[in-house]
Amino acid sequence: REEPLVLGIETSCDETGVGIVRGRTLLADAVASSVDEHARFGGVVPEVASRAHLEAMVPTIERALKEAGVAPRDLDGIAVTAGPGLSGALLVGVSAAKAYAYALGKPLYGVNHLASHICVDQLEHGPLPEPTMALLVSGGHSSLLLAPDITSDVRPLGATIDDAAGEAFDKIARVLGLGFPGGPFIDRAALEGDPKAIRFPRGLTGPRDAAYDFSFSGLKTSVARWVEARRAAGEPVPVADVAASFQEAVADVLTRKAVRACKDNGVGHLMIGGGVAANSRLRAMAQRRCEDAGIVLRVPRPGLCTDNGAMVAALGAEMVARGRTPSAWDLSADSSLPV
Ligand code: KG4
Ligand code: ZN
Repeated sequence: REEPLVLGIETSCDETGVGIVRGRTLLADAVASSVDEHARFGGVVPEVASRAHLEAMVPTIERALKEAGVAPRDLDGIAVTAGPGLSGALLVGVSAAKAYAYALGKPLYGVNHLASHICVDQLEHGPLPEPTMALLVSGGHSSLLLAPDITSDVRPLGATIDDAAGEAFDKIARVLGLGFPGGPFIDRAALEGDPKAIRFPRGLTGPRDAAYDFSFSGLKTSVARWVEARRAAGEPVPVADVAASFQEAVADVLTRKAVRACKDNGVGHLMIGGGVAANSRLRAMAQRRCEDAGIVLRVPRPGLCTDNGAMVAALGAEMVARGRTPSAWDLSADSSLPV
């Protein structure tokens, strides 16, 4: 029997993503982003995102179908991000998925955004070992997840208690007068800087702190104060050194806790996903620390780390392949959907 052909729709934040996969093979990955419309606000504006999804939805679905060269009637299912994410944004995707699935007579699969961030790696590196440990770091989440079964059993071990890692990158970029979203700008600026120039705090790494939770707001405040003090003293701000030292602190905490989670739980594979997984320092540090600990590291290419429809299709296809029950027609968006 042929592997399932699934179309996936993602609208949890500012990316309208539509992907099509056959089993673990990527056939199309169409993304329309409203990121430029949010840039002048320094963050994603939910109403603006919802409207942009509404406008981009149908054209993006059509683009993906064309790219994959498949007819809608040949699909084995339609998957959609049901949460977590921005309510209004999610609703656009869920409504579209229901309409297409109902009209075409195809099963509908509401999937979890975090689980699909993990599952996408199958498109690049083949079947995920089970269990897999996942570190998800983006503008909206920073979580450590243990996944014994990507379609039905994903356990949150820890998460940020304040800002997400990507949020911290975006805020520090603003403090330094760099662009939005800040991650890529900090990454680039840091290449010229000394990561040891300034020792910024590593949140929640004390002996009594929660082992797998993260905190980036103290780091953010510390960096902002350091920069302000320089400016108040009329001294130039060494942007590259600040960027490199800040990035070092984030990468240090993320990799340290992820490796520890693997060791504590006897898991031999770590996958890193989400927009921040594109960070060059995080990737290099994770590679080295995983090697030292005998852990196999899996990081999808950057285009699959940021929000996209292919990851939703990937998880949908896995659900079809494992005979999971489709969602009911009253499937609803849930902004705080747990894994
Ligand atoms: O996964 P994503 O595209 O969207 C969600 O937030 O769900 O992640 C976006 C985040 C932004 O905060 C952006 O600054 C960050 O990922 N990011 C990076 C890099 N590229 C994107 N952070 C650090 N280094 C990067 N190279
Ligand atoms: Zn995401």
